[in-house]
Order: sequence, then structure tokens, then C-alpha cells
Amino acid sequence: MHIYAEQRFLDNHIRNISESLEIEIISSRPNQESYLAYNSTGLSFIKDAANPKEFLYVDFLKGKLGWRIKRAEHESNLKKAIGKTKKELNIFDATAGFLSDSMIFLSLGHKVMAVEQSKIIFYLVEDAIKRAQSKIPFLRNLSFLNGNSLDIFRYSKESFDAIYLDPMYPITKKNVKGSGDMRSIRSILKLENILNEENDLCDAFMQCEYQKIILKRPLKYKKIYSNINYQVKGKTTRFDIFI
Ligand SMILES: C[S@@+](CC[C@H](N)C(=O)[O-])C[C@H]1O[C@@H](n2cnc3c(N)ncnc32)[C@H](O)[C@@H]1O
Repeated sequence: MHIYAEQRFLDNHIRNISESLEIEIISSRPNQESYLAYNSTGLSFIKDAANPKEFLYVDFLKGKLGWRIKRAEHESNLKKAIGKTKKELNIFDATAGFLSDSMIFLSLGHKVMAVEQSKIIFYLVEDAIKRAQSKIPFLRNLSFLNGNSLDIFRYSKESFDAIYLDPMYPITKKNVKGSGDMRSIRSILKLENILNEENDLCDAFMQCEYQKIILKRPLKYKKIYSNINYQVKGKTTRFDIFI
């Protein structure tokens, strides 16, 4: 895998990413495999060099995500899952992904520590944060880290009002194709040789001391834990709440 960046776009930001990912920057567009591309619009991931028009680019200001953030007040299920409160909560997002859910928590006035295990996803999102920072003031209430969330949670000295878990959905016959975002996450995790141990992660957090766990699952997914306190159900997903 390479980072494709023309000479005129080279800066310390992309050099640091190249060093951290241990992948070389090249100035001509790769014609095979997956690659990262960096230019004046930021960092993107191209899954298949033969199809460069299909790329993954995180944007908090425009598109699907930008629209969702703008209408955060309408996220009634996520709001119910957090619980009605005027207090500013400190939320630990253990499965950050593209930060879409965390951005809703932040826009509702809460503080978030979000952790993503994949370095590639982390840099794509960090790049989006950098671009949006001056336009989205609540981003200053976010601390975004790369690593294993369980280790980071165990070593953190902060106290959290809620742990948010949205592990990858299990692959079933029905969702084998999945949404574009989920397909991209899966292919990135595969590239980085990261195994998805969704149940192990949930089990491990269940063993930690917590005030509240919010577990996002497909609506019809089997209940694995019997100690659910309540559920918030949407059209396709549900939140299992543990107190
Ligand atoms: C379904 S996605 C989360 C989507 C996210 N809620 C959003 O709104 O964009 C699951 C993410 O959790 C990450 N993940 C899974 N286990 C993790 C762990 N132990 N530590 C950090 N990140 C983890 C995966 O790499 C993946 O990006």
C-alpha cells in the first residue's frame, strides 16, 4: 500500500502519517491495490485502484455525515439512549469508527473521548477533524485517540458517565454487502490485519466498572446479555442499556 500525493501537496502532516503507517509516499497514482491519496481537499482511501472514483473521505461539514450533525436534535433514539439530562456528560466511545455517533453526542453538548483501533481510519477521521475544527466549535470537547479502547479505558484516570459500544455488525446472509461505510471499514481492518472480536470487546467492557453501557446492535440481533436494563428500538437498530 502507498500514499499518493503530488509533490506540491507534501507537508509535515502527510509525512507524519506516512511514517506512522510505515508506508511510502509516491507521486504517481497507483494502478493496483488500495491506497491513500492526499491533496488540497485532504486524505482519502481508495479501496480499488482500478476504480478511483469510489473513495472514502470523511467530511463533517457536508454530505450524509454533515447533514446528520446539523440535525442532531432529531436523533431521538440516541438521545433516549443517553437519557434525558441537562448535565454535560463525559462519554467514552470505545468504537469510534468515523465518529458519526460521537459527533451527535458532542453536538448535544457532551464531552467525548473516542478511540479507534485502526490507524488508517484514525488518520482519515483526524484529517476531517483538522478541516472542520474552525467551523465546528464543539470539536474542542472531543479527545480522539488511536489504540485499543479497552486498554485506554483501563488506564484512563477520567470518570465516564457512559461507555458507548458500536462494534462491527456480524455478517449475515442479509447484510453481506453492508453499507458502503461498513464495507470500507471491513476492508481497511483486513488490510491492517485487525481481527474483529466484537463479543470479546463487549464482554470485556461488561467486566469493567461502569455507570452505564450503551450497546448499539441490529434490531433483530440476539440478546447476548440477560442484564439489560432497558432498550431503545429504532427501525433497524436498537440500543441495549446496562446500568
Ligand atoms: C461499526 S464501527 C463504529 C461506527 C461508529 N459508531 C460511527 O458512528 O462511525 C466499529 C469501529 O470500532 C472499531 N473498534 C472495534 N474494536 C475496537 C477496539 N477494541 N478499540 C478501538 N476501536 C475498535 C473498529 O475498528 C471500527 O472502526
